[in-house]
Amino acid sequence: MSVPMLDLKVLFKSQEAEIRAAMDRVLESQNFINGPEVDAFEAEVAAFLEASVVCVGCSNGSAALVLALMALGVGPGDEVVVPTYSFFSTASSVVLVGATPVWVDVEPGSCNIDPEQLADKLSDRTRAVIPVHLFGRAADLGAIQAVLERAGRADQVVIVEDAAQALSARFEGRRACTIGALSTISFFPSKNLGAFGDAGMVVSTDPKLAETVRVLSRHGARVKYFHDLVGLNSRLDALQAAILRVKLVQLDAWSEARRVNAARYRALFAEAGLEAWVTMPVDDGSGGRFFHIYNQFNLRAVRRDALEAHLSAAGIGTAVYYPRPLHVQACFEAHGGKWGDHPVSEDASQTSLAIPIFPGLTEDQQVEVVEAVKTFYVG
Ligand SMILES: Cc1ncc(COP(=O)(O)O)c(C=O)c1O
Repeated sequence: MSVPMLDLKVLFKSQEAEIRAAMDRVLESQNFINGPEVDAFEAEVAAFLEASVVCVGCSNGSAALVLALMALGVGPGDEVVVPTYSFFSTASSVVLVGATPVWVDVEPGSCNIDPEQLADKLSDRTRAVIPVHLFGRAADLGAIQAVLERAGRADQVVIVEDAAQALSARFEGRRACTIGALSTISFFPSKNLGAFGDAGMVVSTDPKLAETVRVLSRHGARVKYFHDLVGLNSRLDALQAAILRVKLVQLDAWSEARRVNAARYRALFAEAGLEAWVTMPVDDGSGGRFFHIYNQFNLRAVRRDALEAHLSAAGIGTAVYYPRPLHVQACFEAHGGKWGDHPVSEDASQTSLAIPIFPGLTEDQQVEVVEAVKTFYVG
């Protein structure tokens, strides 16, 4: 039996009739960009977030980050603190608006930005910090806020939550996307809430900032053809919004299914006695400060590349997030950073291996994954 890294067909089949009806609704309306489906989706995500926030749909999670920084007026001469271990656009967004990324290593357990190291990286030019809720577990936003307060910078440095992988995760009971002044979401198909193409969103606790994002996402025009700002064309398609509305209803249940799968992996790996070779992702349980929703179940593994090849030969899908930390990406050479600067990220890039966790993964498939890992290490 082969085990795919992700099987989106199971989820599609479970909602096929509703999704097709939603798509038909848009086709009948011939209204493809923004409009009532997008308005309704934005309101439904705001309600889902259980907080007073304004949501603005946009073209993808990378554009959402650029829009958030543009709305803050971040630009040349400004610094934005980012973790060195994340998807590319956490840092490229900073460079795209002309600002300077300031690298901070991550914590070894969560692979999220290390708040202790943040204090040393703040300067008079710091305008924002972008904590990433990597793999679906929130960064320690409380500790980050405390560092900003201790430094007397809490009023000047904005927290922008990169929640691309974390819609439905919680930090101290609150949903991710409701704590920073601005937050960004990706609906890339592999995310917990995935569109049928690219889609994204900016969320803000400040209605004025949200309005600026909205205007910026429409070429800076409040009134068509009259441009107050230089913005982007970064709007949400009605078809994606209609599909996402159907899927949003199931999001919490799917996140719960991922958590059940994660707990089962923990039990299976413990039974297999593989602790010497494989480290499980950190999770402090349902009642803890961090409600992990496992966009990825990311192992740290000894001889990762050989394990990956072994699993692939056994028909088991895996993924490496990420093989090269941000501070040593070729395109960021001008922004400093060399191997050795951020050892935790560098180690993570050599040892991380995500295994299948999607809702719909069966117990038999999970047993097979763990058996295959065991065969690799102990024969
Ligand atoms: C942490 C993080 N930030 C930003 C993005 C960008 O989202 P998108 O692919 O929708 O542009 C992603 C998507 O992979 C991500 O994982």
